[in-house]
Amino acid sequence: MTQPQLRAGMVGVGMIFDETYRPFFEEVHREGLYDRRHGDVAVPLVAMASRTGTRAARYQSELKEKLAPFTNFSGTDAVDQMLSHGVDFACVATPDNRHFEAAKKVLSTGTHLLIEKPSVLSLSELDELVAIAAEKQLLAKVVYHKLLDPDHKKLRTLVHDDVLQHVNTGYCSLLEPKSISGGQFAEWIVGRNPGTYVAVHYIKLIDFTFGGKLKTVMATGQRGLVGTKDGPTWDTNQLRMIYEYADGREAAFDIHTSWVTPDNFPGYVEQEVQFRFDNGVWNGHSRKRGVECTVEERTPFTLKTTMNNHYNGTFMEPWGVRSQRGYGIEVLERFVREVAYVEYAGEKSDRGQRLSEMQSLGYNDLAADRQTVAAVQALEAILERHVAGEPDCVVRVNDPRGGLVLYRPGQAEPIVLYAGTV
Ligand SMILES: NC(=O)c1ccc[n+]([C@@H]2O[C@H](COP(=O)([O-])OP(=O)(O)OC[C@H]3O[C@@H](n4cnc5c(N)ncnc54)[C@H](O)[C@@H]3O)[C@@H](O)[C@H]2O)c1
Repeated sequence: MTQPQLRAGMVGVGMIFDETYRPFFEEVHREGLYDRRHGDVAVPLVAMASRTGTRAARYQSELKEKLAPFTNFSGTDAVDQMLSHGVDFACVATPDNRHFEAAKKVLSTGTHLLIEKPSVLSLSELDELVAIAAEKQLLAKVVYHKLLDPDHKKLRTLVHDDVLQHVNTGYCSLLEPKSISGGQFAEWIVGRNPGTYVAVHYIKLIDFTFGGKLKTVMATGQRGLVGTKDGPTWDTNQLRMIYEYADGREAAFDIHTSWVTPDNFPGYVEQEVQFRFDNGVWNGHSRKRGVECTVEERTPFTLKTTMNNHYNGTFMEPWGVRSQRGYGIEVLERFVREVAYVEYAGEKSDRGQRLSEMQSLGYNDLAADRQTVAAVQALEAILERHVAGEPDCVVRVNDPRGGLVLYRPGQAEPIVLYAGTV
């Protein structure tokens, strides 16, 4: 019998590829993907598609010993070429506003899809992708690795088990250093904001952990460091979401994000959450949960002062081998296990059943991403109006006038951003 395999394709070969996809593909190349229900599935990374192909070309030589040979496609039709080459699933890790086009191509050619967060920036794009996935009988999923952070899993477990009862309010903050906006993302940052890019992790955490119905979205922010004070590029953002729960009670959540924190700030990427319940308080802090390490001339620049050893750490294991592991990598493996389960864990005739089982997993299925995408679309629209000279707009969800409706101060007529039900 020939060994079952899932050929992988990668669209976008940037920072996140290097941090999480590369170690995942190296590990699966070395160790295979085993489950008693489908045996050992080979998961070769057979092709990469990016604009310039420069990094992929470097990996072709650097990772020769660690990956099977792969084809490097570049240029404007790189994604089409990669899909014609033949892959069983493809991962899309292009900049946030370039996910949709590639994702649509992936699904349209009958290929399972994994897309980086935020999945897409509008509900109409989400509708399109979900419809193609349903028609082609494919998995279409998104990476929210923070849901796999052990601290967030514990929070959700306590909520699920009704130990923490009825969330009332909460705040989350994620501060990234200036080097992100000034260096790494400088090429595509014009017109973008740190809210969509990182607040989306917390939007999903809140949506997935507490359930409920999203009712209202508000947002503001500051400009003047990354771009000009009146320009379209944001330094920091503050987002507020209001949810309503089955008993009619509400909760409000504030999410603050920045990509202009000083590079030598000890938190480097500083993450904090607080959720208040009827009967308790949950406080989570990335710096307070763990390690603080100082090394002359290295921290916080080439070595982080407060390293997150849960997300993605490099280790010398007690048994003498080097490894790279963490929930940022685990989340990718989970997706590939879901694809392997659909394709190989039983008779072909039962594939539909297995597919629905995996599609029902709300933590990563695109169909369950509606409220998160709604919040992102609302945020983008509010910031766009702000740049156009109309600050302080409010978006209401499933309003009598539509699914997403933007109200402007002093204007009687709202703008319907999405007519269907969210
Ligand atoms: N899961 C996470 O927490 C996490 C962390 C960082 C980034 N991300 C997400 O991953 C995505 C990529 O981020 P990054 O930090 O790797 O960005 P990056 O700028 O480092 O890399 C982007 C890559 O996409 C390629 N690209 C750009 N436009 C393309 C196109 N039209 N077709 C094909 N390739 C194209 C570029 O050539 C580059 O290889 C973003 O959506 C980001 O939000 C997720």
